[in-house]
Amino acid sequence: MNFQPLFGKQEFLHGADYNPEQWLDYPEVLEQDIAMMKQANCNIMSVGIFSWAMLEPQEGVFNFAWLDDVINNLYKNGIHVFLATPSGARPAWLSHKYPEVLRTSQDRVHQLHGGRHNHCLSSPIYREKVKIINSELAKRYANHPAVLGWHISNEYSGSCHCPLCQENFRKYLKNKYKTLDNLNKAYWSVFWSHTYQDWDQIESPSTIGENAVHALNLDWKRFATYMAMDFCKSEIDAVKPYNDKLKFTTNFMEFFYDYDYFEFAKVIDFVSWDSYPRWHFDKDELPTASYTAMNHDLMRSYKNGQPFVLMESTPSCTNWRDLSKLKKPMMHRLSSLQAVAHGADSIQYFQWRKSRGSSEKFHGAVVDHVGHINTRVGHDVVDLGKTLSKLGEIVGSSTKAEVAIVFDTQNRWAIDDSQGPRNAGIDYLQIVHEQYKAFWNRGISVDIIDESCDLNKYKLVVAPATYMIRGDFAKNVESFVQNGGTYVSTYWSGIVNETDLCFLGGFPGPLKNVLGIWDEETECLADFEEVDIKFDINNILNIKGSFKGRMLCALIHANEANILAHYESDFFANRPCVTCNNFGKGQAYYIATRMDDAFNEVFYSKLTEQLGIKGAIDTTLPKGVTCIARYNNDNKYVFVMNFNKTEQNLQLDSNYINLETQETLSDIVHLEPYASLVLKKA
Ligand code: GLA
Ligand code: ZN
Repeated sequence: MNFQPLFGKQEFLHGADYNPEQWLDYPEVLEQDIAMMKQANCNIMSVGIFSWAMLEPQEGVFNFAWLDDVINNLYKNGIHVFLATPSGARPAWLSHKYPEVLRTSQDRVHQLHGGRHNHCLSSPIYREKVKIINSELAKRYANHPAVLGWHISNEYSGSCHCPLCQENFRKYLKNKYKTLDNLNKAYWSVFWSHTYQDWDQIESPSTIGENAVHALNLDWKRFATYMAMDFCKSEIDAVKPYNDKLKFTTNFMEFFYDYDYFEFAKVIDFVSWDSYPRWHFDKDELPTASYTAMNHDLMRSYKNGQPFVLMESTPSCTNWRDLSKLKKPMMHRLSSLQAVAHGADSIQYFQWRKSRGSSEKFHGAVVDHVGHINTRVGHDVVDLGKTLSKLGEIVGSSTKAEVAIVFDTQNRWAIDDSQGPRNAGIDYLQIVHEQYKAFWNRGISVDIIDESCDLNKYKLVVAPATYMIRGDFAKNVESFVQNGGTYVSTYWSGIVNETDLCFLGGFPGPLKNVLGIWDEETECLADFEEVDIKFDINNILNIKGSFKGRMLCALIHANEANILAHYESDFFANRPCVTCNNFGKGQAYYIATRMDDAFNEVFYSKLTEQLGIKGAIDTTLPKGVTCIARYNNDNKYVFVMNFNKTEQNLQLDSNYINLETQETLSDIVHLEPYASLVLKKA
């Protein structure tokens, strides 16, 4: 399948957040910047993100002259813009005159003006003021040929607990539950006499109030997602009438906690995100590399495989972690091409020019305080610009993932809130990452989906720790397996429904049939404890030997399922630990404990082999080297990435053309430390 290039042209976007309003006292800067942008092959800048105070210095008084100048000059020089709505941070006059726009925290403290991303999303005044500035921007620029699309606000996050938001929360709940009785039952609120007698008694969770009703906590997070989406929609509604051809995005963040992005993605046209991996923080780059790859796969999966925009990344360091590590030579190229490999059709930075003052003055940027790009970082960016200009034919190409891993944000919230069996943290995200790594190591493409997604296009669906089963997920799993799919489940699955009520009649609740097991109880191991697992001779995957489990151990009965492995130690020795149930035309595996990496490697390699699922290149990949493929109509593109500090050799399985040098490669390719190559199958 081929996607239409998002912005009509068969070329990569390369650019940055551009904040020229910080430099209006330095009139020479715009011209210098544009010259450097051209030198770096930049064709896109995101403008206006935090410009509200410059655009509307007083209520109802607008000043667009500076932005006219910026947009016109960029365009004259072949550079387009993503135009931002400025709602991410508000001018002081607004907070001062209308304090209701300020957020109230969960402990009911009304905040002062300052920072950003901290408004009340219910406030009619805030919505009105945003609508006014958005409409003014749209009136003036929505038909400007420079504008490629809308960058709606910036990194929406959090929620507000003011009286207006409480009122909206109650409305949301009334709409969901219809009667208070339904809500009380769904919340099991009779516990501790927490039954609500009136809708008005319902308040958002708070450390100074109610925080023990898990279903309330979950609904509050769902409501926060709904509010942010609703706000984003209202921003879009303000600008859309001026040119309905322009597309919308808002920039997402990595495995974001506050909102369910699978829901949120429904209100935008294309996904964009801000990626800041922890390169060089650990002894080797492998955990960061596979974790970042998984993030990119998630972003691509929000819109069914449609390429995404890398809205922000740093060309050198961040400044908000304990350490601000520079990107070592070759890492900028590697990390950017990694994004492209997983579906990005753009590489953009935060930010173009480093601020002179305030909190981000030491955050990496393309142009440093020295004022030119004849720098190490500048050269990296210029080189990447050249590389991207040679890869245009890849734009719009897709990923053929036969494997999906389920990461469900609502399940994550529920797991984290659950008291027992392990309050010190089950680390759902890490559990998902552990499965993902086994595929990444083999160069097998994976979609990261949630419980609401379609399963039928995959051969294999891996869904670890699906504690909460919501919507039609269990039904969908059954029909997926019935029709020949392979499903992998683990411990701590099928425990509660979507309002956190435990399934009665035996775990894993609605997954019991398809998995063919009964999970009778769960033992929680102390951090120093491990349990031994041994595979039975002649097990269906032909796995040999012993492995270790930790953290949680489901003590199961293999009712209809076949047993592949048993526990070998502790009081539950000899009970089944890995099972497989034949169900319809497919198979459903269950892994009863958190296995070590050695197990995941063997298990997924045997399973993918059996299912005929292959990596991008049919070869054995050296550790830390991975290959990821993108496809368009007739072509296969393979991104070869060496995340090691050491040189490596890779055995190719066919002839390839290096897209940058046009050289034909076959047999063994030598890879320098942190090398990345873009190959096209000959
Ligand atoms: C976020 C924001 C940017 C900037 C960067 C710094 O992604 O959107 O405005 O603060 O972080 O890393
Ligand atoms: Zn509010």
